[in-house]
Amino acid sequence: MKAIQTLKDEHQYILRMLKVVRKLSIHTFNTKEVYYEGFHKAIDFIRNYADKFHHGKEEDILFNVMSTELGEAIKIGPIYSMLAEHDLGRLFIKTLEESLFDAEKGKEEAKVDIISNAICYTDLLYRHIDKEDNAIFNFAADKLSQETLEKMEIDFNKTQEDLNKEETERKYVQLLTELEAYVVKLGY
Ligand SMILES: [Fe+2]
Ligand SMILES: [Fe+2]
Repeated sequence: MKAIQTLKDEHQYILRMLKVVRKLSIHTFNTKEVYYEGFHKAIDFIRNYADKFHHGKEEDILFNVMSTELGEAIKIGPIYSMLAEHDLGRLFIKTLEESLFDAEKGKEEAKVDIISNAICYTDLLYRHIDKEDNAIFNFAADKLSQETLEKMEIDFNKTQEDLNKEETERKYVQLLTELEAYVVKLGY
């Protein structure tokens, strides 16, 4: 159960970053100015904390275990759809980054792609996290055996060590807090 709670706790940091990205987008919409450094820092957080650190544990451990232990219907239904959403998120972030580079080089219309990809990403992730928190994770906690849940906790701890949990969280929570302070200073 602790492993699932860890994932839920990480969602809280990701949700805070989604708010920041939405506010950076609203700022661009209102002023036509892009806070490039802020967007690039948000992409760093999304790729390394939300994706590698958080989605990595879901994909390599939890979803893997659910797919093998809870049957084919679970694997090709909810689990495939969660994996597809992770992939779609990666596409939005890749296009967001490309649009930032284009706008930085002076391509004015790329600003519309910055806003649209940033907002599509946040909307996707809000819905995705809601499904995990309120359906998938509870289903896993309910249906997986106690033995599997305990083994999963060991695998989580091992992965967290490999990913340097303390240092990763310290770095990305600090980055998140700085960006939150910046958007407040912008008036959002
Ligand atoms: Fe996920
Ligand atoms: Fe998640």
